[in-house]
Amino acid sequence: MLRIGMLTSGGDCQALNAAMRGVAKALYEQAKDVEIYGFEDGYKGLIYGNYRKLSPEEFSGILTEGGTILGTSRQPFKLMRVPDENGLDKVEAMKKNYRKLKLECLVILGGNGTHKTANLLREEGLNIITLPKTIDNDIWGTDMTFGFQSAADIAAHAFDCIHTTAASHGRVFIVEVMGHKAGWLTLHAGIAGGADIILVPEIPYDVDKVVQAIEKRDKAGKRFTILAVAEGAISKEDAACSKKDREKKKKDSKYPSVSYELADQILKETGKEVRITVPGHMQRGGSPCPYDRVLATRLGSAAADLILKQQYGNMVGIVNGRIEPVPLKKAAGKLKMIDPDSSIIRETKAVGISFGD
Ligand code: F6P
Repeated sequence: MLRIGMLTSGGDCQALNAAMRGVAKALYEQAKDVEIYGFEDGYKGLIYGNYRKLSPEEFSGILTEGGTILGTSRQPFKLMRVPDENGLDKVEAMKKNYRKLKLECLVILGGNGTHKTANLLREEGLNIITLPKTIDNDIWGTDMTFGFQSAADIAAHAFDCIHTTAASHGRVFIVEVMGHKAGWLTLHAGIAGGADIILVPEIPYDVDKVVQAIEKRDKAGKRFTILAVAEGAISKEDAACSKKDREKKKKDSKYPSVSYELADQILKETGKEVRITVPGHMQRGGSPCPYDRVLATRLGSAAADLILKQQYGNMVGIVNGRIEPVPLKKAAGKLKMIDPDSSIIRETKAVGISFGD
């Protein structure tokens, strides 16, 4: 009997169900006796022993369903070694539940924080395989994470809608895109949505340069300007401050996010009122796009293959178009950021898009 555990942890995204389906279908297809146990709400289910045996039928009809059939939650890595309010040792509890169920392997679907805990469990002796999910596409070791393309579709659609109203009124618009640390989603949705200015965390902006880009469009007779601003976009001034000072500024700020501060600065410099649209969690919702369905199915199927070959301790990634195992110890704890000198940035600048730098 092959007994497998599964959990989805961290922020949800599209194609989590498609990926779990890929693992399950490939295992049911290729192994004789398989039992799959699903832990509820991420690591919480593994810690507190909330799980259920999943039937093969539960993996049918979920390819196109957003969210996760297992539920998810954020369990910060930095608190994993801190006992809970009742003094429970979380790591020991996870190991105990894994052993109680006599699991051969635990399949963990998650983003960066999730991978750190997955690697901790690997170091503690559990057999782990992970799958890279996040709309942020910022997991080191894989060219692409599932969820990203679906979120980029939604965010790009927001830009398409904003375009028509911005053009009618001749206004400046900011669309704030998800991504606190990495700007991949803002970059891709911004390019796809025809944004004129793209601000990402990896390229700190100068407000004067942003204003100049708006004025340049004015002079060229363009009636409107659209900015794609990442949640984590940062000015050159703030980037030069210490982390502590930045956090204090954020805490004391009257602005709910960077976009509102920037909108005020643009108004002061140009006299133009700026409208802000925040698609927010819409970007993580709904049905996965075909690309993500394919990627998640392939990654899930490859995860099953690794389980059958007992090649544990790996994340399954896509590297130069090939689905490959990536050692967890290499991938965990590293972020994949945009390189400001990369060709995508050069190509984007070449078509006249400003990064405010
Ligand atoms: O990690 C995915 C993500 O959607 C980020 O883009 C965003 O900054 C964050 O999660 C939002 O987190 P939460 O859903 O906990 O508000």
